[in-house]
Amino acid sequence: MNHQFPDHLVKSVERRVTGRACSNVALAKYWGKRDVSLNLPYTGSLSVTLDGLETTATVEIESGKTSRTILNGVLTSGPEADRIRGFLDLVRLAAGSRSVASAELASNFPVAAGIASSASTFAALAVAAAAAYGVSLTATQLSILARRGSGSAARSIFGGYTEWLPGEASDGTDSFAVRLAEPEHWRLGIAVVITNERPKSVGSRSGMAHAAKTSPFFPAWLTSHEDDLADIRRGILDRNLTLVGETAEHNCLKMHAVSLTSRPALLYWKPATLAVIETVYELRAGGIEAYFTIDAGPQVKVLCANEQIGIVAAALANAPGVKRVLRSGPGNDAHVVEAA
Ligand code: PMV
Repeated sequence: MNHQFPDHLVKSVERRVTGRACSNVALAKYWGKRDVSLNLPYTGSLSVTLDGLETTATVEIESGKTSRTILNGVLTSGPEADRIRGFLDLVRLAAGSRSVASAELASNFPVAAGIASSASTFAALAVAAAAAYGVSLTATQLSILARRGSGSAARSIFGGYTEWLPGEASDGTDSFAVRLAEPEHWRLGIAVVITNERPKSVGSRSGMAHAAKTSPFFPAWLTSHEDDLADIRRGILDRNLTLVGETAEHNCLKMHAVSLTSRPALLYWKPATLAVIETVYELRAGGIEAYFTIDAGPQVKVLCANEQIGIVAAALANAPGVKRVLRSGPGNDAHVVEAA
């Protein structure tokens, strides 16, 4: 990051930049931090960026103004706004600016309900804030910056298939995402099944800290993770749905086993979540390859061949308790949409 930004450019900045980023779904998950304040993970993780599930972030810098945070049209204060302001301050300090920024965020999918809205939020904010403050960052540096907002956001800087390398350094300089494959490499079908539109009660931040501290299965989660990463990485490069799907399901169930065996237990599923899992099993029994994965919430993402997304989405929509099914696939890189 450029700490030497020329003074004449930062003293009276008046800029408004809009950035956009897609959410992502982890196939090998991030669950547990070796450093809480820097969002440094114990393990690597691997994801697909989700086309059409987007957050748009507008960052505005005006000298002498106070900072405002607007989330989906609502002026917000409290911990959520503080977290966003703290993130914008990282960029402000890197730019050597005294002008605070305001942010307006809009997501086109249910936020804070287990579709990694924090991933698209902080990836979009990273690209918009860096451009607004005139800090020129590489994609790797943007990934490091986005990671400071939310770990999974490090992966949403890149479209297609992405791997977040955990790194070893205590300052996090080697903990960033890299692109594994472009979206065009493999047009996987991804059905996002919404079972509950309300915000979840335990966010991933506190959920993973609690699980790491209290589940007796956490060490097994860590030691078995590398094999899953290797299989999913290979499966993506070979476009092998069976290998990717089976391994992603297994990795997801291990993450939830760790959560379930925390004290007190963390149960992210609703009855409809289980109904979707059963529907996926029925689809497979009927010869349609479909595989589920679930993050820290009740929603389910189902992977299938792109040509079968219509049949798969229709079957999932019929599962008891399902509210709606969004059709997605590998999405694009986080990018600046407009700068003024
Ligand atoms: O980035 P966070 O702090 O919202 O954590 C995301 C955790 C999971 O979504 C459950 C897994 C992952 O790798 O995205």
